Amino acid sequence: MKKPKSTLLFLFIALFLWLNTGITFSSGRPGRNFIDSLLQTMTIDEKIGQLIQIDFSAVGKEKAIEYILKYNVGSFLNVWTPEEIKLLQETALKQTRTGVPLIFGLDVIHGYRTIFPIPLAESCSWNPKLVEKSARIAAIEASAHGIHWTFAPMVDIARDARWGRIAEGAGEDTYLGCVMAEARVRGFQGNDLSNPTTIVACPKHYVAYGACEGGKDYNTVDISPATLYQVYLPPFAAAINAGALTVMSAFNEINGIPASANEYTLREILKKRWGFKGFVVSDYNAVAELVIHGFVPDKQNAALKAITAGVDMEMMGFSYLKNLKMLTESGKLPVAIVDSTVKRILYVKYELGLFKNPIYGSEKRRKNETLKSEFINHARTIARESIVLLKNKNKLLPLDESSFPVALIGPLAASKKDLLGSWSCAGKPEDVISILEALETRIGGKNILYAKGCEIERWSEKDLKKALRVARKAKTIILVLGETREMSGEGGSRAYIGLTESQLRLTKAITRLKKPVVVVLVNGRPLAIPWIAQNIPAIIESWQLGIQHGPAVVDVLFGDCNPSGKLTVSFPKATGQEPLYYNHKMTGRPPIKPGNRFESKYIDLQPGPLFPFGYGLSYSKFIYSELKIYPKVLRPTDTLLVTVKITNDSDIPGKEIVQLYIRDVSASLTRPVKELKDFKKVYIRPHEHKIVTFRLPVSTCGFYNSKMEWKVEPGKFKLWVGPSSAEGLTGEFEIK
Ligand code: BGC
Repeated sequence: MKKPKSTLLFLFIALFLWLNTGITFSSGRPGRNFIDSLLQTMTIDEKIGQLIQIDFSAVGKEKAIEYILKYNVGSFLNVWTPEEIKLLQETALKQTRTGVPLIFGLDVIHGYRTIFPIPLAESCSWNPKLVEKSARIAAIEASAHGIHWTFAPMVDIARDARWGRIAEGAGEDTYLGCVMAEARVRGFQGNDLSNPTTIVACPKHYVAYGACEGGKDYNTVDISPATLYQVYLPPFAAAINAGALTVMSAFNEINGIPASANEYTLREILKKRWGFKGFVVSDYNAVAELVIHGFVPDKQNAALKAITAGVDMEMMGFSYLKNLKMLTESGKLPVAIVDSTVKRILYVKYELGLFKNPIYGSEKRRKNETLKSEFINHARTIARESIVLLKNKNKLLPLDESSFPVALIGPLAASKKDLLGSWSCAGKPEDVISILEALETRIGGKNILYAKGCEIERWSEKDLKKALRVARKAKTIILVLGETREMSGEGGSRAYIGLTESQLRLTKAITRLKKPVVVVLVNGRPLAIPWIAQNIPAIIESWQLGIQHGPAVVDVLFGDCNPSGKLTVSFPKATGQEPLYYNHKMTGRPPIKPGNRFESKYIDLQPGPLFPFGYGLSYSKFIYSELKIYPKVLRPTDTLLVTVKITNDSDIPGKEIVQLYIRDVSASLTRPVKELKDFKKVYIRPHEHKIVTFRLPVSTCGFYNSKMEWKVEPGKFKLWVGPSSAEGLTGEFEIK
């Protein structure tokens, strides 16, 4: 549709735009008036266009322009170059009748060009300030390249390590998940969305996607309302409280009703109860997939169900594009629903300042604000804090000159692309410093011997021979093992989450040399590595740390950085233990007595994780003492005061993550054996101590009862303060 040269309507809209420039919607009427007036001028086709998002990389430039001109589409994803973004935006602004700006979305998950650790790794820093800064930098870089909107943070709780998308979130715990969700939203959106260096956040995948059966991606979710309320909804509520203005509806069904057509979760909970003012975008093709789920007979009904349930924008799938008009004409879909949906989208565009400044970024910004040294420094800082030291027998680490020459062996030792993780956005392998390169910089080429040893999934005697030759010449061996980036992330579910056969074979052959071995793990999920845990003296979990992976690992290997990360996911001994999470229920027969068959456990495996949630070592030695709880008996309106003394009983300064857990001993719905309620990350100098204080409002000790109402029930509670979910000082309190 060509725009008439000069129409009264256009002048009218332009006048409104001009009058409203600089006035934010949240500041009151003017924005609302602007949107109402704009809506009144829009035809049904123009309105429906706003509800459609097209994947530019799937359709190409010509088609994309056609979608704008013919269908007035309001949004694109995956437009990679600022030039193309500009072209499309100008087409929408100048060649459509309404000139409503497009909103461009992209998966900016853990960095745009400066790639940070995968979100699972970042969560192991337990440092929301650093996590917020990563998101802030990602927003600066992405917006400089024309992006308005990121499909992040991913706030799905993940309790099953077989699920590849565990890499994208903050792990298994809801409380920590909420803290990280808030931090990321703050980072992306800043405190003024109309500032062109901020981008709008999109917590996803609403909701319960992480509860897919068997850890298989896109699979069915069948969970109790209590688990939905208690475990999976809170991180979304936290993200929305922090100001997130879009939400992505998930692929999965929830108890028979697909999340992208779920009126209860979308309209009732999100929009009505939580007062969410932004818009919901479906996941990719999720509306069209309602047909495949067996929920509706065809795409027309899919569109009707989805929009009625509260999905405002359809990402690909074309069900809205092809059916909404017909549905309004037949009276099946009230225009009022379309109007309220369009308003939400216009509202977000308005809040982003797009009516005033539709084209983000500039050549200058891209030049000055991409891979800036400050950004790269931050990438190293957060990578260092994301690393978790899993084992350090006889203080093998940190290494020093006495360990030279060092043999660096393993299929991931020289890799760059795998260190980027599964969502590397505009990241490039050449931006990454590999472990081999970082080691060469740190200790000089002559002190290092390198061999690949094997491929991740392929064995070769020749590679082994070379690795053994190299290893024989070395004093210390560093083995870099794990997963390629394709082995986790979307569609990356695994039925066996151990190391691959070839890597295990290599490790066993190397250990037969009886030299000190350090294993550095590079992976996107917890791994079942009982043999490694048993036989290798030092193990570093480095995840996928982004562009500064190599330097961060080498900093830890040589003690330039004292590791301080702690696991935010449990490591299993065997895949068969999954789903595995620390805050499980007690059952009537917990495993207590070894040898007793009739307990909740497997007959062929010792109970418990290989490494528990919250666990991580340091080169310092921290001692917990003097736990004080006050008062011992509280009313529902009181606040519990907990203090503990943490002493650094070593010569090395370090950071400790002090964790507070509680257990409601008896309740009208059974409660988990432990629940994280708070944590503090403290820096303590050698041979000094700190008193760490927690203030826990009793109101936070409640839970959703059988009516799904948040209630604090009177009774006894246990409390732990410790270095992980499996250790700590214990106490008690009571709520009257
Ligand atoms: C993923 C989303 C992602 C979207 C757009 C989907 O397949 O599930 O997380 O945001 O694609 O790339």
